[in-house]
Amino acid sequence: MARTLTPVVPAAENISSGETHWASRVTYVDARRWAFRVSVSVSVRVPGRIPSMRYFKSDNTASVSREILDAIAACNTGVALAYGADRWSDSLDEVFGRFFETKVRVFTVSSGTAANALALATLCPPWGTVLTHAEAHIERDECGAPEFFTGGAKLSLVGGEGAKFTAADLEARLAWFDPHVHGVQPRVLSITQATERGAVYSVAETRALAKIAHDRGMSVHVDGARFANALVALDCSPAELTWKAGVNVLSFGVIKNGGMNAEALVFFDADRVADFEFRRKRAGQLACKGRYAAVQLIAYLESGIWKRNAERANRLAARIAAAAPQCLSVPCVTNQVFMKLGNERIAALSKEFGFYPWGPAGSGEARFVCSWDTPEEDVDALCAALATAET
Ligand SMILES: Cc1ncc(COP(=O)(O)O)c(C=O)c1O
Repeated sequence: MARTLTPVVPAAENISSGETHWASRVTYVDARRWAFRVSVSVSVRVPGRIPSMRYFKSDNTASVSREILDAIAACNTGVALAYGADRWSDSLDEVFGRFFETKVRVFTVSSGTAANALALATLCPPWGTVLTHAEAHIERDECGAPEFFTGGAKLSLVGGEGAKFTAADLEARLAWFDPHVHGVQPRVLSITQATERGAVYSVAETRALAKIAHDRGMSVHVDGARFANALVALDCSPAELTWKAGVNVLSFGVIKNGGMNAEALVFFDADRVADFEFRRKRAGQLACKGRYAAVQLIAYLESGIWKRNAERANRLAARIAAAAPQCLSVPCVTNQVFMKLGNERIAALSKEFGFYPWGPAGSGEARFVCSWDTPEEDVDALCAALATAET
């Protein structure tokens, strides 16, 4: 007797233009006295775009910039040594060194979670603790990867508006730790640029936080999944916002802002690299065909798309914020917009726009994110829909 399970096809609201979706069909075959299972993967091509769905869910739904694709194609000839020994990987320290105006060590990884978790593992012993915001991606959205890769180091949370904390907030939290054997010891400060609510730490704020951390012997890590958006918003140099302000390690996001599948982990002090390379290999993050990751990072900086793409995403978000400023729950500074719209309005908007309700369930808050390739007409449509919103 054969039993066929219906293929799982994604819900229409999650499908956009020309995507290919994989569904699996499983057939169980009973062959006399023993049973075996056949698993078949089928590809379902979904034609055309769902006309009414306009996407503001995240910047990681964006496509890959032409400059990145061209760079991948250009390096795609002949042999290149594996595991980061190719000439593109070799040049990363120099290329990023020019960008940051100092000597750096740069490594590729394939996701922001890997960059954060491996950076923290390198900086924090298992008995240490990482001071971070309660809404930080490393706390809420990495499935415990920082704890796993550090060997169990604790995250100690700090509060503050806009997923951002002040020097006073940090001092107050640090006052709880004693240098005795019974408690975990503060070893790392991790802040996010731009924050999970689209805010930025200014150069002065970064410097003040880093000084507190360094005075306690802690390292300073920045989750820069949207670092380019923060740089553009602050109109400062990459050096000013990082090592000159006391940052030791930066998870430099590329994927959300036009990249494909490579992020950079930037160490501003060679000493802090320590055993990172072994950790990266052990985590399965040392790409064998490393050139394809390295060229993405090089193209990202050298073509200038880090800036162009972030400028466009920030500008589009500012337009959305301006359409209903009375609804903003936090100021819009980068490419994310947070609005208190109420549950009914969220339900109505969801019919035409893809976005996430934000905060605790039923809070009536929504998040809209613009990316480098968000269509202008989608922003027009959202602005028009929001223009009728009440407070
Ligand atoms: C603040 C922040 N950090 C890091 C990441 C990286 O996550 P991923 O592992 O999905 O690349 C994200 C992605 O949403 C993020 O928003």
